Amino acid sequence: MSEPVSSAVRTPPKLALHGAGRMGRQLAEAAESAGFSLVGVIARHQPDWLTDDLYAASPEQFIVQPDVVIDFSLPGGAANVAQWCAANTIPLVSGTTGLDESTRAELDAASTKVPLLWAANFSIGLNACLVLARRLRELVGPAVPARILDIHHAGKLDAPSGTALVLGEAIGGTVEYDSVREGDAIGEHHLVIELADERIEIRHVAEDRRLFALGALHAARWLLDQAPGHYSMLDCIGAARP
Ligand SMILES: NC(=O)c1ccc[n+]([C@@H]2O[C@H](COP(=O)([O-])OP(=O)(O)OC[C@H]3O[C@@H](n4cnc5c(N)ncnc54)[C@H](OP(=O)(O)O)[C@@H]3O)[C@@H](O)[C@H]2O)c1
Repeated sequence: MSEPVSSAVRTPPKLALHGAGRMGRQLAEAAESAGFSLVGVIARHQPDWLTDDLYAASPEQFIVQPDVVIDFSLPGGAANVAQWCAANTIPLVSGTTGLDESTRAELDAASTKVPLLWAANFSIGLNACLVLARRLRELVGPAVPARILDIHHAGKLDAPSGTALVLGEAIGGTVEYDSVREGDAIGEHHLVIELADERIEIRHVAEDRRLFALGALHAARWLLDQAPGHYSMLDCIGAARP
């Protein structure tokens, strides 16, 4: 059996971020209090809040090699950083959504070399909803259709959201998706099942983007102790199917 890649890592682990947008900023702000030492942030453009000593236009520019990377970028970026992490034996957490087949294949290939955790949603509460959705399907049977509505800020590119798709996989059967993109909504998901004369709803509302950052940092810490492989947030919180 292969050993965890980073068994020799000492605390605080050195963290690099890939992506310096809404999520990258949240992660940069939360990293130190979560017990990480932030050593670099990669983005194509340097945002105002990011200091010169941390900014890198590509991972090759890092002065200090990180122990773990967290990626919240766009699909092309996720594929590049997965290749780099695999080549440099660095565990990778990715929360980038809207991935196409070739990006998924890059993540799969990287996970044969390093521990890799991809999640459409790092909220512990939303992941608990995935478990509830599976159980709900077992109870109502395969024939009843489900509807999933996701509501996000106007700048979100993918629709349905990655979380809506994962929720759809969890409930299974026939699923109808609907997406609303408006204002600054952080992320809201409704899973609805209509039975004769009754309606079941599982609703999750993200109230602060910080929650995704804290979940991703929790995942990064957990990943440091894992062997190479492709993990989910359900693995991380101990709720994966046997
Ligand atoms: N899993 C979760 O829990 C969760 C939660 C929230 C969001 N998300 C997902 O996370 C991703 C990022 O969200 P966000 O709101 O932070 O987006 P955002 O504000 O648009 O920021 C994206 C960042 O990624 C950088 N980037 C894009 N392509 C890149 C590339 N090829 N190489 C290097 N950097 C690149 C951008 O840099 P430039 O500006 O320089 O292009 C920017 O800094 C999205 O896919 C979103 O759906 C996931």
